[in-house]
Order: sequence, then structure tokens, then C-alpha cells
Amino acid sequence: MYKALGQDSGWIWINGEFVPWQEAKIHVLSHTLHYGSGVFEGERAYNGKIFKMTEHHQRLHDSAAMLGFEIPYTVAEINEIALELLARNHLKDAYIRPVAWHGPESLSVASYKNSVNLALASWQWTSYFPKEVLGVKLAWADWVRPAPNMAPVHAKANGQYISATLSKNKAEKEGFHDALMLDYRGYIAECTGANIFIAKDQTVYTPIADCFLNGITRQTVMQLLKEKGFKIIEKHLMPEEIKNAEEIFITGSAVEVQSVIQIGEQHFPLGAIAGEMKTAYGQLVRE
Ligand SMILES: Cc1ncc(COP(=O)(O)O)c(C=O)c1O
Repeated sequence: MYKALGQDSGWIWINGEFVPWQEAKIHVLSHTLHYGSGVFEGERAYNGKIFKMTEHHQRLHDSAAMLGFEIPYTVAEINEIALELLARNHLKDAYIRPVAWHGPESLSVASYKNSVNLALASWQWTSYFPKEVLGVKLAWADWVRPAPNMAPVHAKANGQYISATLSKNKAEKEGFHDALMLDYRGYIAECTGANIFIAKDQTVYTPIADCFLNGITRQTVMQLLKEKGFKIIEKHLMPEEIKNAEEIFITGSAVEVQSVIQIGEQHFPLGAIAGEMKTAYGQLVRE
């Protein structure tokens, strides 16, 4: 029997109960395993407090609504479960993964008659990229982010991650840390699990989140940039517009703030703005 995430101790909350780590199982005929009909969240706790907890659990509800189903626990209840989970697992600095999926009552492609299930897991996860990496290398992805009428692009829906998985598989096999995806129009969109910021001529640019996840960290960092007096512009950006970038960084709940030193063949310096944002974000999440 494999060990989930290489560990075999701890508790996972599933459908109303805390169960031992290795016993958090679902049926192989669960609808979501076959058709990707679920939603999930990714959030971090710092010193026992989950950063933007309510926003994450509200987004879980909103993502489910975009997929046409309702999570049978309120946002306030999910907040309580998440905090209880951390306490039971004796975790203060941790990653939390809520996931909601459709059960195995039917394998029709239609999901609306199936049960809605919810689980929350938490574990220690210090850094998304190897700790010693100061700046990450991104490959250009072959896959693009779809148009809003091709997929529920604003939902954090697990079925949508296949193009991200394929892009990150290829990127890692080629020696990159992650991949940068364009959208269906050819504009720069996002990484496989993070949003992107590009600094040029004393201004910070970030793509308009009109066909990908408007990250909670993206919104937080935009606010921090404004507070620090930086000019920030949301704009459709073509790949050639990164050519003279002074610095590039990416953001996400798992990634936090991470400098980018390479995209495809182009190299970028580690920059002061990313450094300042790393510090400011690090302070904010621990406040
Ligand atoms: C595809 C994708 N884009 C962006 C993000 C960043 O979102 P957030 O800052 O809310 O974690 C994530 C991570 O959740 C993601 O999976």
C-alpha cells in the first residue's frame, strides 16, 4: 500500500469525520475520478492562522456553484473544520487542501444526481520550489488557457488542471521548474499554479484575469504593491513584451512570492520589487 504524500500518520477530515491519514479513501467509481467534476482549494497556515481562510472557503463554494453544485457545509463550518484539523495534526505552519467531489452513485457524464463529498487534509509543506532556488526557470507551455466559453475558467476546478499537469510534466523533464501558459488569444496568462507579475520602467504589469484564476495572492500582492507606492497596471501582455523586463515574479498560496530568472531562452535578474514583496507578504501572513 502506498503512503499518501509519503506519510502515514495524521488525521484527515472526510464527510463529517476525522479519520486516520491512511484510511481517507473514496470509491474507485467516484464521478470526479472519471470526469474531473470536482473543486478544491490550496491555502497555508502561518503560526496556526490560515491566511485568508474565509476567502479560500468562499472561493471553494463559488467554484462549486460555477460547476452547478452546492457544498453541504457552510463557509463558517469549513473554517472550523480546517482549524480543528490543524489542531488535531499539531500543525502551525502547514498547507491545507479542501476538496469537494461527486460520489459513485452514477457514472453518467451528468453529475447533478451524484452525492457531493468534502474532505480537508493538511500537512507540513515548507516551500513549493526547492528551498535553495532563489529564482525559478519557466518553460513556455505548449497548452493554452481556454476561453471563458470553453471551460469554467474562474473556478478552481480539478478537471481543468490537465493542461497545467501536462505543461509542468514537460517543463520539469526539460530542466525547468514550471511552465508559463498563454491564453487562447496568445496573451500571457499564468503558470500552472501561480499568477505572474512583470516589472518594467518602474511599473509592475500583471495580465488581466479574464480567463484564469484571479489568485487570492495576486490580489494581496497587488494591494501590497499599491501600499508601497508602485504603479501597477493590469493589461493584456504579449510574450514579446517581457523582453526588456527588469524583473519577473510569480505568486500563489502554495508558491507565495517567487522570483523568476528564466523564461524559455530569456534570462532575468533577481529584482528588488520581488524581494520587497516577499518580505511584505511574509509579514502580512504572520500578522
Ligand atoms: C492555476 C492557478 N493559478 C493561480 C493560482 C494562485 O491562486 P491563489 O493565489 O489564490 O493561491 C493557483 C493556486 O491556487 C492556481 O492553481
